[in-house]
Amino acid sequence: MSSDFITGLDVGSTAVRVAVGTRAPERDKSSGIHIIGVAEVPSEGLSKGIITSIDDAVSSVSAALERAERMIGAEIRKAFVGISGSHIISQTSKGVVGVSRPDGEIRPEDVERAVEAARTVATPSNYEILHVIPKSFTVDGQSGVKDPVGMSGIRLEVDAEIIQGLSAQIKNITKCVYRTGIDIEDLVLGILATSEAVATPRQRDLGVAVANIGGSTTSVIVFEGGDPLHTAVLPIGSEHITSDIAIGLRTSIDVAEALKLRFGTASAKEVQKREEINLRDLGSPDAETVSRRYVAEIIEARVEEIFEKVDAEFRRIGRSGLLPAGVVLTGGGAKLPGMVEAAKRKLRLPASLGYPIGVTAITDKVNDLAFTTAIGLVLWGAALEERAPGKIGRMLSRFSAVEQVSKRIKKLFGSLLP
Ligand SMILES: Nc1ncnc2c1ncn2[C@@H]1O[C@H](COP(=O)(O)OP(=O)(O)OP(=O)(O)O)[C@@H](O)[C@H]1O
Ligand SMILES: [Mg+2]
Repeated sequence: MSSDFITGLDVGSTAVRVAVGTRAPERDKSSGIHIIGVAEVPSEGLSKGIITSIDDAVSSVSAALERAERMIGAEIRKAFVGISGSHIISQTSKGVVGVSRPDGEIRPEDVERAVEAARTVATPSNYEILHVIPKSFTVDGQSGVKDPVGMSGIRLEVDAEIIQGLSAQIKNITKCVYRTGIDIEDLVLGILATSEAVATPRQRDLGVAVANIGGSTTSVIVFEGGDPLHTAVLPIGSEHITSDIAIGLRTSIDVAEALKLRFGTASAKEVQKREEINLRDLGSPDAETVSRRYVAEIIEARVEEIFEKVDAEFRRIGRSGLLPAGVVLTGGGAKLPGMVEAAKRKLRLPASLGYPIGVTAITDKVNDLAFTTAIGLVLWGAALEERAPGKIGRMLSRFSAVEQVSKRIKKLFGSLLP
C-alpha cells in the first residue's frame, strides 16, 4: 500500500499539517482523491513563514508525520512539501527557440527547450527558481496559443511566470524535511497547491483569485484562462490582528488570541455598542471588561489593510475589481466572521470561503479552511502523476525545477540520513 498514497506536508507558521490521500476506487468516478489521514501539530521553530530553528522545526514536522502514520497505519516515506514566506518573488519571462524538425512540426521537446530558455532570467544570486509556469505560447507571431504541440512553425515563444525563493530558505525547509527521514517528491509554492484544492477549473478559466490568510502571511494567486497570472506572498496575516488587539487593549497575546477566536469579527457595525467582554473569562489575571465593538473596530482596520494589500497585487496586473469569478478566501485567518463581507467591500468582487473540493475523506477535519494547503499538495501530487499529454510541458518544468534543487541538497545531507 505504501506506494499508493500521496502525502502533502504544509509547514506553516502556526501549525504543521499533513494530509494523506489515495486515489478513490475506479467505480467511484465522482471523486478523484480520498483523504485517509490528516494530522496537525502547533509549529515550533518557525516565525513569519521562515525557519528560525531547524531542530525545533524538525521535531514539529516529525510529530505531525508520526500522527499521520498512526492514523493511516503505514509508514510515510515521501511527501509533496509546500514552501511559502515573503521571500518568494514572481516575475514574467519570455523564452524563444527555433523549431527543430525540418517540417516545422512542434514537438514536446521544443516546448521544453522554450521553457528552459525562459528560465534564464536574471536571477538574483541568492535566489533559486522554484517553478517555471508556461502561461501561453506564440508560434511564428501568432500569440495566445495554449498548447503548441503538433502545430507547425519556425519560431516558438513562451510567456512564463518564474517563481523564485531565497536559496537559504529553500535549503532550510529541504534540510528540515530530510532530517525527519522522508523524501521530498516536489517542493511546491504553497498557494499553487492551495488553489488546486479550492478553485474549480471553470473559475480558473473565467478569472479568479485565491487568498490564503495564514498566521504571518497572506498568499495570493490570480488565475486567468486556466493558468496562474500572478502570485505574491504578503508579510501580513491573522497574527497581526492578534497583536493589534493585544496592543489596543494592553493585554497579553494569549488573551488577545482567545478574544479574537471567541468574540472576533471583521464587521464592527454588526456588534451592539453595549456588548461587553470580561477578559478574566479569557484567561486574563485581571477582571477587566472591554467593549466588543471596540475589538471589532481594531480587527476591521487590520483586515481592511490586508485586503488593501491584496488589491494592490490585483492592481499591479490590471485586475483590480475585474475578476469575474471573484476571490476565494481560505486559510485559518479566513475563519474570522465578517471576512467575506470585508473582502467584497474592499476588493469590489464576489467573495466566498474556499473549502477543499474534489476530495472525499474519512474525517471531518478535512473540511477546514486551514487544511486546504496540505490537501492541495496531495491534489498537486495526484495531478503530477497523471500529467495529461497536453500539459506535459507545464508539469515537467514545474517538476524538474525542484528536482534539481532537492537532488543537490540530498547529496549534501544524504550522508546524514539514517
Ligand atoms: N476560528 C478562527 N477565527 C479567527 N481566526 C482564526 C480562527 N482559527 C484560526 N484563526 C487564525 O488563523 C491563523 C492561522 O492560520 P493558518 O493555520 O492557515 O496559518 P499557517 O498556515 O500556520 O501560517 P502561514 O501560512 O502564514 O505560515 C492564526 O492567526 C489564527 O489565530
Ligand atoms: Mg499556511
